[in-house]
Amino acid sequence: MIHPPEPTVWPTASVAAESRLYAPVRVGRIILGSSTWVPAMVPWRATDSGFVTDSLLAWYGRFAEGAPGAIVVEATGIRDVPSGPLLRIGHSRFIPGLRQVADSIHQRSRGRTKAFIQILDFLPVRRRPTPEAYFLRYWRPAERHRLRLREETAELGEDLVPIEQLPGRMLALTPSEWRRILDPREFEDLERGRRDRVTDLDNPDVRTLPDVLPGLFADAAARAFEAGFDGVELHFAHAYTMASFLSALNTRTDGYGGSLEGRLRLPIEVLRAVRRRVGDDALVGLRFLGDESIPGGYGIDTACQYALAFARAGAQFLSVSRGGKFEDARVPRIGEAVYPYTGDSGSACMPSSTDAEVPFGRNLSLSLAIRTTLRSEGFEVPVVGAGGIATFARAEAALSTGALDIVAAARQSLADPDWWEKVRTGRGLEVRRCSFTNYCEGLDQRHREVTCRLWDRVFDGGGDGARSVDGKRRLVAPPWEGSVLHEGAKKGTVP
Ligand SMILES: Cc1cc2nc3c(=O)[nH]c(=O)nc-3n(C[C@H](O)[C@H](O)[C@H](O)COP(=O)(O)O)c2cc1C
Ligand code: SF4
Repeated sequence: MIHPPEPTVWPTASVAAESRLYAPVRVGRIILGSSTWVPAMVPWRATDSGFVTDSLLAWYGRFAEGAPGAIVVEATGIRDVPSGPLLRIGHSRFIPGLRQVADSIHQRSRGRTKAFIQILDFLPVRRRPTPEAYFLRYWRPAERHRLRLREETAELGEDLVPIEQLPGRMLALTPSEWRRILDPREFEDLERGRRDRVTDLDNPDVRTLPDVLPGLFADAAARAFEAGFDGVELHFAHAYTMASFLSALNTRTDGYGGSLEGRLRLPIEVLRAVRRRVGDDALVGLRFLGDESIPGGYGIDTACQYALAFARAGAQFLSVSRGGKFEDARVPRIGEAVYPYTGDSGSACMPSSTDAEVPFGRNLSLSLAIRTTLRSEGFEVPVVGAGGIATFARAEAALSTGALDIVAAARQSLADPDWWEKVRTGRGLEVRRCSFTNYCEGLDQRHREVTCRLWDRVFDGGGDGARSVDGKRRLVAPPWEGSVLHEGAKKGTVP
């Protein structure tokens, strides 16, 4: 089912000037110029060692031209370990590049946009192996497998196969036989690639996460402020380590799982460690899930309890997302890694116009419940929300009905980074409207430079018109002739 763009009427400049969307909003000790926000979006433009590139600077600079209240720089890894082309903040050598990003956001928005950065930890995910590689290299055959194999092949009247011959025998079987002979986790490793989980207490790296993560997050946050960012967003959402601690599926038995308090323990310890390191004045908030959107996952009632706990522990904004989990992700092809935005929870996270449900504003019931709970307990912490908000009318309604304090728009801002300015200046009819078909997300999935399907393919040869590695796509949105920045740039008055 394809949902057409939401019909809308754009405001005049004077209506926009009176709106909540374009009114300043306080976040911690910072005032954002408007209640507009570009949430984290990984564009896959860092180097293979996690450093900032010109193309990454162009990406953030272009968003800044639209002058939203805040831009959250993509999920950035807190560890000093090879992470492919993921942006990194796990060592002081990353600070100079990150400082350029923060500076670029400030300069290109002419000081109107605050620069935040999302910091994350994730656990190893291996690619799906070939059956040969799995059985001959990774699998650990044991007595239980011999017994199950004999049951499976009983009609052949075979004796127990010697353990050393098990891998070869398994290779001759079918996937449904593998499923019956392997343990469920082993079958998953074969079918999807091995993925570490926070519940793997027999793995020392996983068992000791509560010892190492508070310090890693605190150090990374301190680097972010040293690099000139105005705020830090702790990534407690989607498929990554901290969200997995919060998950209802976290059954750790060491005090960091099981009950609601146990699942909250490490996230709160991380938040407190960050706060201790960066001091009371530095802006620290977090992104978490209002609903995990997976079988057995937590829902909005738990999310409201989490929100209260985060507010009590000093989070200065709460950004609400949904889903985006590994548990229901599509089975990857051999040689590829499982990707958390490919199942139903992925659709919940980035609703598409090809979904059964309409893509617009689908998370607002979550943020409304969270915000109402916070206010009823006396917490004024601002709530940020994204998910198919791509018109002024919907954004303004979300603010007026108390579902949000700040409107985040990811894909609409990608389709047209100037849309905030176009709407503010009464030129809404010029907005290039996102079609929510998730072409950009497909690129993200393959770790290719993220671009938008709606951008033209006219290359002007300049930095901002530079092409993607495949040579076919422009790397940033086309310029908007009406932009004050472009006028200023032509006259040499804008940096
Ligand atoms: C290309 C792409 C990359 C994304 N990367 C991140 C990320 O790094 N961190 C994050 O929390 N969300 C990420 N998201 C999710 C968005 O922040 C947002 O929650 C989601 O797209 C729904 O909002 P929208 O309907 O306004 O696009 C990404 C989304 C897209 C399209
Ligand atoms: S490619 Fe562009 S139009 Fe399509 S969903 Fe992404 S941002 Fe929207």
